[in-house]
Amino acid sequence: MSRPSEGASGLIGAEIAGYRVERELGRGGMAVVYCAKDLRLGRTVALKLLAPEYTRNEAFRSRFAQESRVAAAIDHPNIVPVFEAGEADGVLYIAMCFVSGLDLRALLDREGPLPVPAALRIAVQLASALDAAHARDLVHRDVKPGNVLVAKGIDSDHPEHVYLTDFGLAKKSLSLTGFTTAGEFVGTLDYVAPERIAGRPVDGRSDQYSLACVVHETLVGAPPFRRADQLELLWAHQYDPPPAVSGERPDIPADADEVLHRALAKIPDDRYGSCLEFVMALRGAVGGAGLRGPAPALADLRPAAGPCADPGLDRAEEPEPPHEPPPEPPGWAGPVLRAPR
Ligand SMILES: Nc1ncnc2c1ncn2[C@@H]1O[C@H](COP(=O)(O)OP(=O)(O)O)[C@@H](O)[C@H]1O
Ligand SMILES: [Mg+2]
Repeated sequence: MSRPSEGASGLIGAEIAGYRVERELGRGGMAVVYCAKDLRLGRTVALKLLAPEYTRNEAFRSRFAQESRVAAAIDHPNIVPVFEAGEADGVLYIAMCFVSGLDLRALLDREGPLPVPAALRIAVQLASALDAAHARDLVHRDVKPGNVLVAKGIDSDHPEHVYLTDFGLAKKSLSLTGFTTAGEFVGTLDYVAPERIAGRPVDGRSDQYSLACVVHETLVGAPPFRRADQLELLWAHQYDPPPAVSGERPDIPADADEVLHRALAKIPDDRYGSCLEFVMALRGAVGGAGLRGPAPALADLRPAAGPCADPGLDRAEEPEPPHEPPPEPPGWAGPVLRAPR
């Protein structure tokens, strides 16, 4: 095995545990995800590596090891399948299905708010994945656009296929975890439920709150609470009423506000019983908009053949799609503050 050097670009071309690293796909709080070639099976995989600065930190190591076990335990069409995980020469890795697509953060940055049917289709798939995790008594605890992968779907009735990923913070229901655990909040606070901020026990309804924040963002281009500093943002999650989506977007009826507000309730008992219940209520509230309708521009992506992507094809060998300027935001979109990943 060729030993990867520290630093992201130094890994390109390196061989780790039988995978050849080809290019970076993305990075979050504690890991970098690469497109890599499985040299035994000749297929393309997504190879997630714990960032070198955390490899000597026991809390991050055990969280990373737990992530692969949690994701592998849930067999669901909207959860990225894990192939294997381990440690090779001090590098902790997870090999998983390569999703040929964009994460929702990148998609929203590129497209702005999505058509209502597309936002609903994405929400239904996320809700289904989350309910499956909750049925196993697991709480994802990091539902945000950067942890949602959007691939092209199989046909015009299913234009997108969505995967929930990154179970790095997943915990058993009712665990008491606040801001004190190492690396709890390495990213954004835009999607965090009030009970987590208050250090109260969390369960699937905390994910429902985060999902509602994500759905809000897919509809209007920004999460419900935007504040100048982090403390104000934490305060807003705990005490401020969320804004009305219908006020920013006239094609959404006021009934949808009520649904979103219930999923964003400050007290978990006031939310829906499940994520799918929330999304189905939203679907009912938007009435005519339904699930059929235009898809976001995923035309430059190859359709996912079965789960994730056609493993025989390697996107790295394709020409880069032509760079197009982002579309003008529609009049109703309002000012959009972009949150960090
Ligand atoms: N299976 C995958 N296929 C393609 N890209 C992926 C895959 N998993 C993750 N990514 C990309 O890598 C980014 C970071 O992955 P993530 O698992 O969220 O890492 P972190 O734990 O560091 O947040 C994602 O936002 C996405 O862009
Ligand atoms: Mg992530």
